[in-house]
Amino acid sequence: MAQETESPARMAWALTGSGHFFAETLELIDSLEGQVDIFLSGAGEEVLQQYGYDLKEIRARHRVFRDNAASSPPVGLFYYGHYHTVVIAPATSNTVAKCVFGISDTLVTNIFAQAGKCRIPSVVFACDSAPHHWTEAPGGTVSVYPRQVDLENTEKLRAFEATEVVTDLASLQSAVRARARTEDAHA
Ligand SMILES: Cc1cc2nc3c(=O)[nH]c(=O)nc-3n(C[C@H](O)[C@H](O)[C@H](O)COP(=O)(O)O)c2cc1C
Repeated sequence: MAQETESPARMAWALTGSGHFFAETLELIDSLEGQVDIFLSGAGEEVLQQYGYDLKEIRARHRVFRDNAASSPPVGLFYYGHYHTVVIAPATSNTVAKCVFGISDTLVTNIFAQAGKCRIPSVVFACDSAPHHWTEAPGGTVSVYPRQVDLENTEKLRAFEATEVVTDLASLQSAVRARARTEDAHA
């Protein structure tokens, strides 16, 4: 693993196993061309394929880290200034719950925890923010009724230090672009 500081620092974008605004999220990543490395949860990698995306094509445009080691070695990069921001988008209820309870047993929950310990800001696009929403499943649009525990976890995450929780696509776009602009100005 490279240990030297990388300049300018980049955005670390975690894709979890949620299909919520998945296509729009990938478009947003590509619109920030050259600035984003992608971190996939195991489920994120599967969901990517289920929505018809080819990991090889994504790899041609971005550095991609897969969740294939127990200790999540890429988190070391956060200690050497490689990343200015962590974005978890879309974030499953599973990943949000683990983050809220301080669990870091996957690549994505690890980068959230380590970013926190390095005081690197995070933006989390939590899918479960209202008692009902529509989402695009591989077979078409479906209705989702998040449980009370899912809604409560989203609220609890808002109280975390250096963490911005967004719950719609427009807010995700503006939060991410604001982080990119801030870092461009510092570069
Ligand atoms: C096509 C598909 C779409 C999914 N979309 C969601 C979703 O929008 N929100 C969610 O919480 N889980 C969703 N799941 C379930 C998660 O992938 C599953 O809970 C997984 O264990 C999450 O792991 P991760 O949080 O490590 O990515 C989806 C699963 C599939 C197969």
